[in-house]
Amino acid sequence: MEAKGIRKEAYVCDKYVAGKSTDEVMADYGLKSVVKLGSNENMYAPYPEALKAMQSELNRINIYPEKNYVKLKELIAEDYGVTSDWVSLGHGAGNVLDEVAKTLLEDGDEIITGQQSYLLYQQISKIMGGKVITVPLNEQYTIETDKIIAEFNEHTKIVWLCNPNNPTGSVIDKTTFEKLVNALPERAWLVVDEAYADFADQEALPNVIDYIKAGKQVILIRTFSKYQGLAGARIGCLVANPEFVNWYDTVSEPFNANRMGLAAAVALMEPKGKAECKKYGDLIVKDRAWLNEELTKLGCVCSPSQANFVFFSTPYLASDVAELLLQKGVIVRPCGGWGYDKHIRVSVGTHEQNEIFLEKLKEALEELAK
Ligand SMILES: Cc1ncc(COP(=O)(O)O)c(C=O)c1O
Repeated sequence: MEAKGIRKEAYVCDKYVAGKSTDEVMADYGLKSVVKLGSNENMYAPYPEALKAMQSELNRINIYPEKNYVKLKELIAEDYGVTSDWVSLGHGAGNVLDEVAKTLLEDGDEIITGQQSYLLYQQISKIMGGKVITVPLNEQYTIETDKIIAEFNEHTKIVWLCNPNNPTGSVIDKTTFEKLVNALPERAWLVVDEAYADFADQEALPNVIDYIKAGKQVILIRTFSKYQGLAGARIGCLVANPEFVNWYDTVSEPFNANRMGLAAAVALMEPKGKAECKKYGDLIVKDRAWLNEELTKLGCVCSPSQANFVFFSTPYLASDVAELLLQKGVIVRPCGGWGYDKHIRVSVGTHEQNEIFLEKLKEALEELAK
């Protein structure tokens, strides 16, 4: 059936196609269990401190959360050495990104992003009438900031920078970042999406907050979906100068965070909650290195990832490998949609899940070699 009256900007967006749920995969392939490593979720969570906080919040679920989310904002602000008027929230980083696009973009504005990066940046920019410019990643699968700078002009409004980058796991280092910030045109904003930053070597990452404090047009975005494991009760946050934060709050819907997520996020920002996140975060980082070694033994080529996933190639088409894995009950993300036909992104799960993934991948590669 035809739907009339859809905005013309929606027609330039890639059409939404729902992915298969775990239940559908089990039904379609006659499986009893599935290991889901396709969406970079945290398989050790939910953490006890988060569960406890959510349970005690349940009997207030009929009431909107208090609108200023004071407690969580204060805890985030404290971590960054700012006051809470530098912080705002949203329903996950995805929603925060969307509201940033709504705050900044108008017809004719240009956005620049990595061609092989988080695809939402392009969608939310197109829907706001922005012109999307993408720059290809280099041979190390890293975003080339010089190529971004080469695209700067008076129409540039946003640079969406995913650091560490999804799907490749690569990072932009401090020097490169500084060069990018200093080259920003006057009315342009650099939006740094650090969804995976907690899994990264902290020394390798630029200190984004320093540039925000120094008055640069830089916005930092974080999520509680990955390291804190709250993807099912999404909370995202933004740190920027208070004037921008006020504009962001002006265009955002009221109550743009949910009670369950807020309660859990607060608990995970307290010392006991932080310790839980670190304990399992460290295991994920350790297994990331181990997966690299094991994948290399299987003849795969891994590129160094600073996120909670591994990005690797096999000699075969990634879609074929992923389909075989699906039949064996393991969901991974083939990267053909980014132009990486032989690459797969696999989330680091629990150690047991990682072992199952390796065993099934070995089988799949052997079948494809026949
Ligand atoms: C780079 C990046 N940014 C943002 C998000 C969205 O996170 P959230 O669950 O907080 O909306 C994701 C989710 O996969 C992501 O990979």
